[in-house]
Amino acid sequence: MSDAGAWIRPMRAADVAAAERLTATAYAGADRVLGPPGARADDGDPGRPAAPVAHPGRRDPVRAEQWRRRTAHLLATDPGGCWVAEDDGDLRGVAVSFTRELMWVLASYAVAPGAQGRGLGRVLLEAALGHGRGCLRGMLCSSPDPAAVRRYRLAGFALHPHMLLTGAVDRTALPVLGRLRDGGTADRDLLDSVDRRARGAAHGPDHEVLRATTARLVVADRPTGQGYAYLGTEGSPVLLAATTRRVAEDLAWEALASAPVGAEVRLERVSAANQWALDVGLAAGLAVHQRGYLALRHCRPPTTYLPHASLL
Ligand SMILES: CC(C)(COP(=O)(O)OP(=O)(O)OC[C@H]1O[C@@H](n2cnc3c(N)ncnc32)[C@H](O)[C@@H]1OP(=O)(O)O)[C@@H](O)C(=O)NCCC(=O)NCCS
Repeated sequence: MSDAGAWIRPMRAADVAAAERLTATAYAGADRVLGPPGARADDGDPGRPAAPVAHPGRRDPVRAEQWRRRTAHLLATDPGGCWVAEDDGDLRGVAVSFTRELMWVLASYAVAPGAQGRGLGRVLLEAALGHGRGCLRGMLCSSPDPAAVRRYRLAGFALHPHMLLTGAVDRTALPVLGRLRDGGTADRDLLDSVDRRARGAAHGPDHEVLRATTARLVVADRPTGQGYAYLGTEGSPVLLAATTRRVAEDLAWEALASAPVGAEVRLERVSAANQWALDVGLAAGLAVHQRGYLALRHCRPPTTYLPHASLL
């Protein structure tokens, strides 16, 4: 039992719906305090633009379903990485983590607003970190919430600020691109091999969920370099990985080119190691903001890689 009077126990499939609601409320609470610009933490489809929220503290139905689907998937692959805090039958906190090829990843982490600041978050994070005991490396996308940032740094993670580029694409800036094609299930080995080179671990079974929760998969498979990007409904890249800077740039441009004319697109989670993404976004007329962190343990920031908010 924690100081907050709640029990920590492994998450069950029946907890997923309540965990979705709890995380939406907790992230919205942090956003209210921290304000814009833009990137809500782990909201289910980071490729979608930040539309006004009809009911603050609730995801729209599509994002909510994506969150549940992704979490049910992680609970199935990594039951030992998913924990909840419960008090008198009510969910008070959640931490969802998983491992892929010696990389530990934190997908979701939240404590109900009324229960924050009393040590529940620390106990939940410790439980999730226990799942990654055999993994030297670890990564997660941190919200800007000072309590979250404090927890991650105290747990030994290096913090790398993330930039966010937003705006409507200047279509006169769109360049001619090298060869790209739409991808599919047959590309799984190629994607895994790109991931191993770009971030040190394959996504493996997560590609199924990524395909099901994004609008399009674009692949580059050239003698000089490989890469891929999952695109959100408005064209923003939800996850981008490449073996060369040229391929990464082409994938980002393809994402921006596919956005509807005048729509707000987002290049999210751009760490300082990815200046090429800054150059692409600025050339396309987007504005730069800073929001959140890439938190890493025993690995360098990937250089041709824009991580997924929760599957990284
Ligand atoms: C991040 C979160 C899960 C932590 O849960 P919690 O129960 O509040 O965490 P704890 O009480 O164990 O620890 C919070 C720490 O931050 C500190 N803290 C709280 N508010 C703070 C603030 N505004 N500035 C600096 N430190 C702060 C607390 O003192 C505590 O540190 P300590 O244990 O060394 O005293 C929770 O705050 C939350 O849900 N935040 C909103 C959602 C979010 O951003 N999640 C992270 C997604 S990446």
